[in-house]
Amino acid sequence: MNETNDTIKLINRRRSVRAWETTSITPDHLKSIIHATMRAPTAGNQMLYTILQVDDQQKKDKLAITCDNQPWIAKAPLVLIFLADMQRWYDFYGNSGVKELCEKKNLTYRTPQESDMFIAMCDALIAAQNAVIAAESLGIGSCYIGDIMENIEIHREMFNLPNWVFPITMLCFGYPKSKNKNPKLTPRFDEKYIHFHDEYKRFEKEDFNDMYKKSIEEFNNMEKKPSGVENYGQRFYLFKTGADFSVEMERSVKKAIKDWNEAKS
Ligand SMILES: Cc1cc2nc3c(=O)[nH]c(=O)nc-3n(C[C@H](O)[C@H](O)[C@H](O)COP(=O)(O)O)c2cc1C
Repeated sequence: MNETNDTIKLINRRRSVRAWETTSITPDHLKSIIHATMRAPTAGNQMLYTILQVDDQQKKDKLAITCDNQPWIAKAPLVLIFLADMQRWYDFYGNSGVKELCEKKNLTYRTPQESDMFIAMCDALIAAQNAVIAAESLGIGSCYIGDIMENIEIHREMFNLPNWVFPITMLCFGYPKSKNKNPKLTPRFDEKYIHFHDEYKRFEKEDFNDMYKKSIEEFNNMEKKPSGVENYGQRFYLFKTGADFSVEMERSVKKAIKDWNEAKS
């Protein structure tokens, strides 16, 4: 790997950290992380996101359960939830008499649709990744928690989230426990399976056999395979895509989209 500068080196050595010292993030470090997060590119410079910092230990404890039982969430010195947020703009429009303007001018008053939700999610995720990289540069490890998308009703109640606000991701941060200071990198697929030119390509069985070669080998070497499971693809599906947490995420996100579409300004 041709590591040309410190930024590339930093990105290439980062990996998710789920075990932290109990030490709090210093106020200077926190300030730098939040500032760098807010410097992320944002659609139309609208900042369609809110960073919700969870300080309350009881709430962290609850998140460790509601986000698919991941106990390390409760132990994270810093927890930030990234909210895709159209509510702020619509509250502003409401305060600015935009509806009345639209009536006067015979224009349709657009309320937030799925497209607005998606663009707000882009903003929130891009900001989140700035936070990850800023933290890494300060010696602070982080881990995304996608399961914050589950249990929407509980999370709405816990954090007072209106319907045009959606928790798209959560980040846990902390100074890595010393044994995790030089972690082994997780593998990635070969670039040829991820980076295309000019058009999309679908793969055949032989491509997949090569793409998942290592995982297939590991599966084949397993002493005790799950019953009835014949190959790595079947195992992976049961473990991730078909697992209970995916089913709950599907339910929760469907509900959030329905509420988003039905909300009134
Ligand atoms: C959108 C997203 C959601 C994730 N959700 C979780 C999660 O709920 N729990 C967890 O332990 N890791 C989670 N991760 C971390 C991934 O497991 C991790 O990034 C992946 O295994 C690659 O490892 P690396 O980050 O160390 O390179 C998530 C990562 C992303 C990008």
